Amino acid sequence: MPLVSTRQLLDEAAKGGYGVGAFNVNNMEQIQAIMEAAKETNSPVIIQASRGARAYAQDKYLYHLMLAAAELYPEIPVAMHLDHGNSYETCVSAIELGFTSVMMDGSLKPDGKTPATFEENVAVTKKVVDYAHPRGIAVEGEIGVLGGVEDGHGAGGSGLDHVTDPDQAVEFAERTGVDSLAIAIGTSHGAYKFTKKPDGSVLKMDLLIKIHHRLPKTHLVMHGSSSVPQDLQDIVNKFGGKLKQTWGVPVEEIQLGIKNGVRKVNVDTDSRLAITGAIRKVFVETPEKFDPRDYLKPARAAMQKVVALRMTQFGQAGHAGDYKAISIADIAKGYKDGTLSTKPEVAKK
Ligand code: G3H
Ligand code: 13P
Ligand code: ZN
Repeated sequence: MPLVSTRQLLDEAAKGGYGVGAFNVNNMEQIQAIMEAAKETNSPVIIQASRGARAYAQDKYLYHLMLAAAELYPEIPVAMHLDHGNSYETCVSAIELGFTSVMMDGSLKPDGKTPATFEENVAVTKKVVDYAHPRGIAVEGEIGVLGGVEDGHGAGGSGLDHVTDPDQAVEFAERTGVDSLAIAIGTSHGAYKFTKKPDGSVLKMDLLIKIHHRLPKTHLVMHGSSSVPQDLQDIVNKFGGKLKQTWGVPVEEIQLGIKNGVRKVNVDTDSRLAITGAIRKVFVETPEKFDPRDYLKPARAAMQKVVALRMTQFGQAGHAGDYKAISIADIAKGYKDGTLSTKPEVAKK
């Protein structure tokens, strides 16, 4: 199957009542792990690359690896998504390269650190939508700011500093015409999200439900959705790592989100932990080894395992064959003739 639009994947997920994992990649092994997990579970999937990933791997390598994935797994609908675009220019460059959807994270200024004003966020996001939709490219916006800092990206602080205001979410969706909306409900990027298993005082599922109530047809996106499982923390630490005890987003809370409009679930940290634990194990148990394949193979397998588990838990498993790819040109026509709506349905408070 050619690379498909994230809009199509999320519309289908809404019809089927499931969520789609969006897994971050930086290299070939991570793409392979995700595609094997998708094949194993028969799942449609979103593969996403951050600005950091694009710089690390170089755009062309990433793009051609993604083309290879689409070619090698014709039965799997796969979208290629820009994660946390920081500016109009970054989004345009991703679209020119061949990404099938972009995130314009206008919740932060282009420095990727300072919270932007609501008006700045609306203006830059709308500008990206106006560029992307005529080209058949879907856009994710973000309203509210996540906690933490990953690779220089993020406002820092706790996930509760700038949670999403439901009225602003409605106005943002109406004024920008985004295809999906990332909201801040107390989560953070990275491993250190919560100091104990999160309850409603730190993970605001009630807020998510309120936003879904106001925007019942809008595809919501949960960032910072790694569960940071204890077993993956333990493997890293058993083999010489020094992770402090931490808690992620419990899978059952993500599943509650999926029942309430969450269609895209962003996961990076769980993959990172799986890879690092597997590599540390090889280094400690067989220090005589020096062929990278000796540790990259188990690393890839460990990532595949956690990704396949998440695909099953998010409900996307079994849905790869539900539909045929709509071409990006036809997606563009859909935006133009209104069959792909960009006007959110809004419910009263
Ligand atoms: O949103 C953060 C993702 O985990 C990507 O992280 O910017 O370090 O590639 P990165
Ligand atoms: P995690 O750090 O929880 O995996 O979040 C990843 C993410 O939100 C990527 O945009
Ligand atoms: Zn994110």
